[in-house]
Amino acid sequence: MRLSQCHNFHDFRRMARRKLPAPIFNYIDGAADDEVTHRRNSAAFDSCDLVPKVLQGVGEVDLSTTVMGQKLALPFYCSPTALQKLFHRDGELAVARAANRYGTMFGVSSLGTTSLEEARRASTGPQVYQFYFHKDRGLNREMMARAKQAGVQVMMLTVDSITGGNRERDKRTGFAIPFRLTLAGMSQFALKPRWAIDYFTSGGFRLPQLDTHVDMGRGTMSISHYFTEMLDPTMSWDDVAAMVAEWGGHFCLKGIMDAEDARRAADIGCTGIVISNHGGRQLDGSRSAFDQLKEIVDAVGNRLDVMMDGGVQRGTHVLKALSLGAKAVGLGRYYLFPLAAAGRPGVELALELMRHEVERGMKLMGCTSIGQLTPENLRFR
Ligand SMILES: Cc1cc2nc3c(=O)[nH]c(=O)nc-3n(C[C@H](O)[C@H](O)[C@H](O)COP(=O)(O)O)c2cc1C
Repeated sequence: MRLSQCHNFHDFRRMARRKLPAPIFNYIDGAADDEVTHRRNSAAFDSCDLVPKVLQGVGEVDLSTTVMGQKLALPFYCSPTALQKLFHRDGELAVARAANRYGTMFGVSSLGTTSLEEARRASTGPQVYQFYFHKDRGLNREMMARAKQAGVQVMMLTVDSITGGNRERDKRTGFAIPFRLTLAGMSQFALKPRWAIDYFTSGGFRLPQLDTHVDMGRGTMSISHYFTEMLDPTMSWDDVAAMVAEWGGHFCLKGIMDAEDARRAADIGCTGIVISNHGGRQLDGSRSAFDQLKEIVDAVGNRLDVMMDGGVQRGTHVLKALSLGAKAVGLGRYYLFPLAAAGRPGVELALELMRHEVERGMKLMGCTSIGQLTPENLRFR
């Protein structure tokens, strides 16, 4: 299968599946428990329909938006995700360069395999640094100082991962960092020798955001250990308020689902929130971000920038979210499968297709700017 045969999310997913060892494909594709929330994330967009206006004069369409002070050429961005060099040898750099080319924002994860500084050098566009709250307050302060020094524009604290989700596909394959594969998982790696050669010649596995504090190499620390031992489950609103004040710039909470929580985020000085259930990878049975969007926009849309992610696979999904008041929409698996399938050209093609779909959709809706999309464009069934 070739990149030229990819026309949508499902094509990229199929191509990634052919390239990746099954444990890695399932790490990306999978979610928590019965994966109900994961399925609902995309299905939620089908619970309403777009109502187009015609004869509006749509020669030129402006797709730009501004979130947390960052001007984006497109109303969607690459949400931070972990371990990208496992998916393609260029990892985060491929994503940073592709996002830069399309004038949009990208995130680097605390569990990224490229340093936030190196990613910063690969793009002149806005960069988000996604981090978790550690028991070691010194480490939290050090990470913020490092991000500031590197020129990161937006700090994004993920608040939906106070403990790890139950990813049963990973248990079955033995996917863990460092690898602790089951026999079945190991045989899946043997079936993809090209991936293995690429991976083992690409310079080894590192987590540069954490490697001063986490020793992955000698196997004394694992990612599951990182979640259970190093992250602080007592994290509270007061802790986060102190971090927001210390950062002194754009600060965003990722993983807000409740309107009252959204108000508290505004109260402590956040300039953005991402409504998200982490791609269904944490609390299965959680509502979809799209289903919660209107309630939260009504509560805080005039106080901070509301974004959402989860299940976005089509330009019309983006249009529906924007119509309900999202300022921009995050993409996860939508760019990860193209990354796995073909590296930077894959991510660029995915962004290009999404740009076309959003632009075409705007024209068919009779809208020439994002601001013209309103709840009036939608009807729920
Ligand atoms: C493989 C994978 C790794 C992820 N790693 C992180 C992470 O390190 N930090 C984080 O805040 N979110 C992480 N996420 C969640 C994404 O940022 C985003 O919220 C989610 O993927 C959106 O759902 P979607 O994949 O359906 O678009 C990850 C998601 C996936 C699929």
